[in-house]
Amino acid sequence: MAKVRQTWGTRLGIIMAVAGSAIGLGNFLRFPVQAAANGGGAFMIPYFISLFLLGIPLMWIEWTLGRYGGGFEHGTAPGIFHTMWQKNRFIKYFGVIGIFGPLVIFIYYTYIESWTLAYSFFALTGKYGNLATQSSMQSFLKGFQGLESNQHFSSIISAYIFFIITFFANIVVIYYGIKGGIEKLCKIAMPLLLGFGIIIMVRVLTLGTPDAARPSWNLVNGLGFLWNPDFSALKSARVWLAAAGQIFFTLSVGIGVILTYASYLSKGDDVVLSGLSAVSMNELAEVVLGGSIVIPAAFVFFGPQEIQGIAKSGAFNLGFVTMPLVFQKLIFGAFFGCIWFLLLFFAGITSSVSLAQPAVAFLEDEFDISRKRAVSIFAAACFVLCQPAIFLLGKGVVNELDFWGGTFCLVLFATAETILFAWVFGMERAWQEIHHGADMEVPKIYKAIIKYITPLFLLLILGFWLYQEGLPTILMKNTPTADRPFVLGARIFLIFIFIVLAVMVKIAWRRKRLKI
Ligand code: PFF
Repeated sequence: MAKVRQTWGTRLGIIMAVAGSAIGLGNFLRFPVQAAANGGGAFMIPYFISLFLLGIPLMWIEWTLGRYGGGFEHGTAPGIFHTMWQKNRFIKYFGVIGIFGPLVIFIYYTYIESWTLAYSFFALTGKYGNLATQSSMQSFLKGFQGLESNQHFSSIISAYIFFIITFFANIVVIYYGIKGGIEKLCKIAMPLLLGFGIIIMVRVLTLGTPDAARPSWNLVNGLGFLWNPDFSALKSARVWLAAAGQIFFTLSVGIGVILTYASYLSKGDDVVLSGLSAVSMNELAEVVLGGSIVIPAAFVFFGPQEIQGIAKSGAFNLGFVTMPLVFQKLIFGAFFGCIWFLLLFFAGITSSVSLAQPAVAFLEDEFDISRKRAVSIFAAACFVLCQPAIFLLGKGVVNELDFWGGTFCLVLFATAETILFAWVFGMERAWQEIHHGADMEVPKIYKAIIKYITPLFLLLILGFWLYQEGLPTILMKNTPTADRPFVLGARIFLIFIFIVLAVMVKIAWRRKRLKI
């Protein structure tokens, strides 16, 4: 008997799920750090240009292609690309990126997500309660991550336990499927996340001037530090790349997960308004919540001098070192610390399940196996694949996975899918396909944007980015010598995963041909 393809329960359900994928650690930690480092308020100019010329078009493209592919029982890029361009025998291998990319991000993202669960527990139990300086909190984090053995942690064991809990929670959600697992999770986690975010934002925005002896350490200056525009930043290509990169990462587009989520829609379901709603929710969470919490709070308590270093020390330090210190200084700090990390955990898990789903859908759709078997195979394989991210964290391995999975593949895949959509599939057909069952019309100008501007913009970014950041990274120019063997190992590991997936595509297609 033919399998019946899963579907979403409600329209709100899929919007919540896509918004859940989009709203993640990137909104609360990555965005403020990127904005502060790349021109502050001026960053919003390339950011919004990228949103309108890349983010929104790609969101529509992926929703449309996903729904189209679902109609042919394909929920991942190899099958979807092949259906769109049947004459080309190789395009399905290019589609492997749409499974590979999410899988690679999943490998490190889930581990970081597990820290948030651990820290919400630590906040509640007061485990770091007596630490008051950046350096002591930093060594707490290092001890936890197993990077050093100190008075706080003698081994990585507690981090490992939280990882297993988090990994298992992800597996349980996808085991219960699209409607029973992912949709249910998002319907509960998303309102909680937004609620917690609002509570923390209001607390931060009412901080005023906590220390009367230091009147300039106040909220308004904190907001100013993040938002005052430095227009000279716009002359730098790096700032434009950072803005475009943030748009991809935050919206979860250009990687294949939205394709998979949309493949569980039916032909008559709207994609235009739904896609736009998910984008709007993400932007609200990113610009309003993400832009009002970490940087202003850190400024108020650490002042204009220290904030420079803090903002440069990266997203993890801000989230796991500075924020716990900030909450220590507040009344009911344990409560605020706990909900801050729970907020991050909910943001994380609703994103990581979306990263797992393409691999699971690939096994189900292309090998005709049941969801439960597919999830079991995924869990076993992925558990092994996660180990290097955990044990080689300090050796540059996570950065390497993030570079290939979270940056390189994104730009490449986005370029390919836009060209396929607008040029191979054909813009007229594509336009019709977008509007099937649509609740609103896409502004006409987007026909020209999707056909010319988005691909051009993407090619430009790809070229610039390869030249500016890609080549030095590929050649390991900025990698410390001691880490090079590990980074090289990570690359071999990635090539191995890619080849295995490509061989699986070959086998799946051969089996299908034999069946017919
Ligand atoms: N959008 C997520 C965030 O902002 O944290 C991260 C992410 C999830 C990226 C899913 C890519 C993806 F496919």
